[in-house]
Amino acid sequence: MIVEVIFSTLDTTGQPNFAPMGVVWGDEVITVRPFRQTQTYHNLMATGYGVVNLTDDVLAFVQSALFNAVLPHFPASAVPGVVFQGACSWRELAVVSGGGTTERAEVRCRVVSKGWQRDFLGFCRARNAVIEATILATRLHLYEPKTVAEALERYAEIVQKTGDEVDQVALQHVREFVARRTGGHSG
Ligand SMILES: Cc1cc2nc3c(=O)[nH]c(=O)nc-3n(C[C@H](O)[C@H](O)[C@H](O)COP(=O)(O)O)c2cc1C
Repeated sequence: MIVEVIFSTLDTTGQPNFAPMGVVWGDEVITVRPFRQTQTYHNLMATGYGVVNLTDDVLAFVQSALFNAVLPHFPASAVPGVVFQGACSWRELAVVSGGGTTERAEVRCRVVSKGWQRDFLGFCRARNAVIEATILATRLHLYEPKTVAEALERYAEIVQKTGDEVDQVALQHVREFVARRTGGHSG
């Protein structure tokens, strides 16, 4: 099963980095699959550590995926790393082995520690829609502008029906990002 998380790492100077990643879930081993050009990949290979942050804060997904945001954080307890302040819970990881293709790495990590701050609420269609919209926005090169616009329209309807104000703001950020990248065809 792949779980969508916010993955945090440090670079060799100690600067934190946050990026959404879909990780292959396990209680003791978690596999991260970053594309090789990402900062996440470079940091993970350079330091050997990372943190999986489980959160329902979809605005944080948007900000870290599309706007390179350094999210509010505090130090991890067992590895050199940081925990996103808005995490419901987290896993602190040490790299065990690397692999994958020339394009995309597969990095197996051992769970060395975990923490909890608050419950993760149940499924929310609006939040799922924001996550899907954000993934789409990171992969615009793969789709026709019309396909992107139609998908964003569908996501906007779901957010309108089932989301709160934060979900709407988050989707609006995605739409503005897409509009800038596609010359105005944001849906
Ligand atoms: C929900 C979600 C899941 C993602 N999963 C991955 C992934 O597994 N691997 C990857 O390289 N990028 C993934 N991305 C895209 C990265 O988050 C995005 O390219 C990000 O800008 C990389 O940041 P970085 O260069 O700071 O590591 C995902 C994006 C979203 C929204």
